[in-house]
Amino acid sequence: MNNKTFYMIIAVVLAASILFWGFIFQDRPVFEPEVSEDKITITMYHGEGCMCCVRWAEYLEEKGFTVVDELVDDLHQVKREKGIPGQLSSCHTAIVDGYVVEGHVPAEDILRMLSERPEAIGISVPGMPPNAPGMDAPITREYQTILFDGDGNISVFATHQ
Ligand code: CU
Ligand code: CU
Repeated sequence: MNNKTFYMIIAVVLAASILFWGFIFQDRPVFEPEVSEDKITITMYHGEGCMCCVRWAEYLEEKGFTVVDELVDDLHQVKREKGIPGQLSSCHTAIVDGYVVEGHVPAEDILRMLSERPEAIGISVPGMPPNAPGMDAPITREYQTILFDGDGNISVFATHQ
């Protein structure tokens, strides 16, 4: 086989495979995240392998939110950038309409914050209370949602059982 024949064969094989894959993929639906006007979109930043983060996202989806999942290598950097005090930090950091939602915050608190629009960075459920949404331990224990701003002011936004 001379060089010319060889390159001809390569060209034919290449053209055939392009046609083949073009045919295979032409009817594949394009993936589009479900973002609609009547749903609130919240973006959640979390690290690899955090199952309670995923469960909190599923909980929010059940409550009618659209959750955009952002896997990040350095979650601490995200928390620093968003101005989340260390003592209020939790396993994931979410952003909704310019506000921070840190940790396993119940959906009703997010909705209330969005309607009241307080002068704040956002709200947090610090740590990971075992009975908070996405943790879902079948126990009753009081935990609080904390409102915080950029000047070090924190206050109790809601108390949950
Ligand atoms: Cu968690
Ligand atoms: Cu989490």
